[in-house]
Amino acid sequence: MNYHNVVFETSYGKASQLGASDLVEIAFAGRSNVGKSSMINKVFNRKQLARVSAVPGKTATINFFRLESVRFADLPGYGYAKVAKGEKERWAKLIDGYFRSGRNIGLVFQLVDIRHKPSQDDLQMIDFLIENEFPFVLILTKKDKLTKTQLAERLEALQTEIPCADQITMIPFSSEKGDGVEEVKAIIEEIAAEYAEDLTEE
Ligand code: GTP
Ligand code: MG
Repeated sequence: MNYHNVVFETSYGKASQLGASDLVEIAFAGRSNVGKSSMINKVFNRKQLARVSAVPGKTATINFFRLESVRFADLPGYGYAKVAKGEKERWAKLIDGYFRSGRNIGLVFQLVDIRHKPSQDDLQMIDFLIENEFPFVLILTKKDKLTKTQLAERLEALQTEIPCADQITMIPFSSEKGDGVEEVKAIIEEIAAEYAEDLTEE
């Protein structure tokens, strides 16, 4: 896949606006400020494909991108305390609507900050993905902020902090340094290839 050919498609603020799911989709989910938009920009090697901000709660809409026959969804982050209740409810509805709209979700990149124990929201999200059988990979963000020793400690701790950890693919990632980018790209290409096979079988 030629990652330079990625195009921004559209933004939706309401689940009712979601268009038809005609392509396989890869979603980026996680807490506000965990690094979803930064990860997208790093993977596609674009500075401003997805908007990044030091202010949490930047991505308030689902933003769609397309590369060849794969669609990518940058989901709004959950768990940001300073957002008004009404706005939080809108986000919850939007994310819930996205996952329940019967879309062809080939994979979810579920992001958690490698430095901290996953929050209640993170664990709820992971449980939701497991229960509803959405295939997902855990992306452990901001790896560059840890020393080697701290990294080893956190990787070990995550084995008990995350349910079914031994069955989950975890990729330490850094949007600053590029760690994990090649693994992520390999996963994206696998999804694209599987989907192309599904199409020829139909
Ligand atoms: P919302 O849109 O609010 O849901 O946030 P987001 O998950 O899209 O996070 P975003 O990519 O906007 O990043 C939030 C902040 O974390 C920004 O200041 C980024 O520069 C920083 N950041 C993201 N990834 C990394 C990383 O791998 N390393 C470091 N050091 N900082 C990062
Ligand atoms: Mg964002």
